[in-house]
Amino acid sequence: MASANTEPHETDYVRIFDTTLRDGEQSPGCTMNVEEKIALARQLERLNVDIIEAGFAVSSPGDFESVTRVAQAVTEPVVLSLSRTREEDVDSALRAVEKAAHPGIHIFIATSDIHLKYKLNMNREDVLDAATWAVTRAKQHLDYIEFSCEDASRTDWDYMVDVCSEVIRAGATIINLPDTTGHAIPEEFGRMFAYMREKVPGADKVIWSAHCHNDLGLAVANSLAAVRNGARQIECTINGIGERAGNCSLEEVVMAMKTRKDLMGIQSRVNTRQIYPSSRLLAQVIGQSVPANKPIVGDNAFAHEAGIHQDGVLKYKLTYEIMKPEDIGIPSNKLVLGKHSGRHAFSNRLKELGIDTDAVDLNKAFGEFKALCDKKKIVYDDDILALVTEEARRTTDHFELVDLKVGSSSKTTPHAEVTMRVEGVERSADSDGDGMVDACYKAIYKIAGINPALERYVVKAITGGTDALGEVSCMIRENGSTVAGQGAHSDIVMASALALVNALNRLKQRRHAVLKPTSDVR
Ligand code: KIV
Ligand code: ZN
Repeated sequence: MASANTEPHETDYVRIFDTTLRDGEQSPGCTMNVEEKIALARQLERLNVDIIEAGFAVSSPGDFESVTRVAQAVTEPVVLSLSRTREEDVDSALRAVEKAAHPGIHIFIATSDIHLKYKLNMNREDVLDAATWAVTRAKQHLDYIEFSCEDASRTDWDYMVDVCSEVIRAGATIINLPDTTGHAIPEEFGRMFAYMREKVPGADKVIWSAHCHNDLGLAVANSLAAVRNGARQIECTINGIGERAGNCSLEEVVMAMKTRKDLMGIQSRVNTRQIYPSSRLLAQVIGQSVPANKPIVGDNAFAHEAGIHQDGVLKYKLTYEIMKPEDIGIPSNKLVLGKHSGRHAFSNRLKELGIDTDAVDLNKAFGEFKALCDKKKIVYDDDILALVTEEARRTTDHFELVDLKVGSSSKTTPHAEVTMRVEGVERSADSDGDGMVDACYKAIYKIAGINPALERYVVKAITGGTDALGEVSCMIRENGSTVAGQGAHSDIVMASALALVNALNRLKQRRHAVLKPTSDVR
């Protein structure tokens, strides 16, 4: 593709299978709407990942639509949908990817005795038949078929040899061995790959893939062990998001292979300069900021605090730095634009930050940028990113915040009056509260007609100073559904209201339900 990868392309390389939009999105609070998934998929294409797992088509109409739209939004990577071994799953996955430039399907079934007995209530023969049947069915329509032995790391190796042999015979082209529960230790996980590659007939005709979860903090180490034993695909997510403790982190595993190429002898084709923009975009979209000490992309990943370290780095960078921040796409100067910057410079900066300018209403975004410049002396990259993602968030909304008035003093009870547009109709409500944000949230709940549990509420100043854009992320839970919302504004109460409205829109999308306002709503 057009992106300038700094490494020469080799024929033998490790394919990067990104599952941020499927396994990543599955974790609580990481739900994304279709537009957000498309924006991320386009960024993943710039990152030059080889495969995008866009969702689990049969699981909901929303997932089906996401896979279909992502399949058409990118042209370089393979786009695939997850599928169980059932007929309706396989057919739905095939339909969802049919318009992709490079379509694929990812069929899985658990193979460990513990899953067979307690989850599937199937015996080994039934599972082998189901796997072979599903791969055979998919092969009638598609060449690119990945098959996964779920819970491979706790499966009897000889039984897994039988399953893999049969699905390869039926047409699977990639065999994935997941450490579904994050239970494996690198040495044994590596041995499992060596054993399977030695024993399975046709092993040399397929690509072996590792999919590791991080329950013991070993997902990256296990993936590298698999590569050392012949795996040529790693399944991972941006920022390591995913079920429970998360999946193997894309940025960590890619940079480990690049930094230690002396030992690994093989690399991915990822355009590493797009790592930082990808990480920031995802953090913005899901409202989960990257921990400061997160390897590669955390704020402190390249910060040297100790005097001895600072002294060393000033004398010679490599005394304490094993990677160059610029190789990850970390801007050396985060101060970017100001009041006098033109539209062209603004649009260029958006592109550098990984934003697809075709998908943004540039006039509107530029207007908001200028308004922000009037409020703030210094506008940073993260301010711009927040501003544009906030704009994208509001475009497909069912609920829209129209007006917010709050009042509080040391002698009066905080009070909020809120007006929202609900499917085009303006509605207002007011409420007292235990603080202005609480009053505002209670008024919004009245309009939306729900009373969810607020499970998380985090305020973060995006950049320094009391005039900084504030970013609020909240997580609400209603009737078993957990959704997160984000909002950014220079006024914290306003940012809080935007975050809640964003969460409500996601809840609405998730439930496809009508939320009815309470009786005191005007
Ligand atoms: O963790 C896992 O086993 C999975 C499979 C569906 C590949 O996510
Ligand atoms: Zn997984």
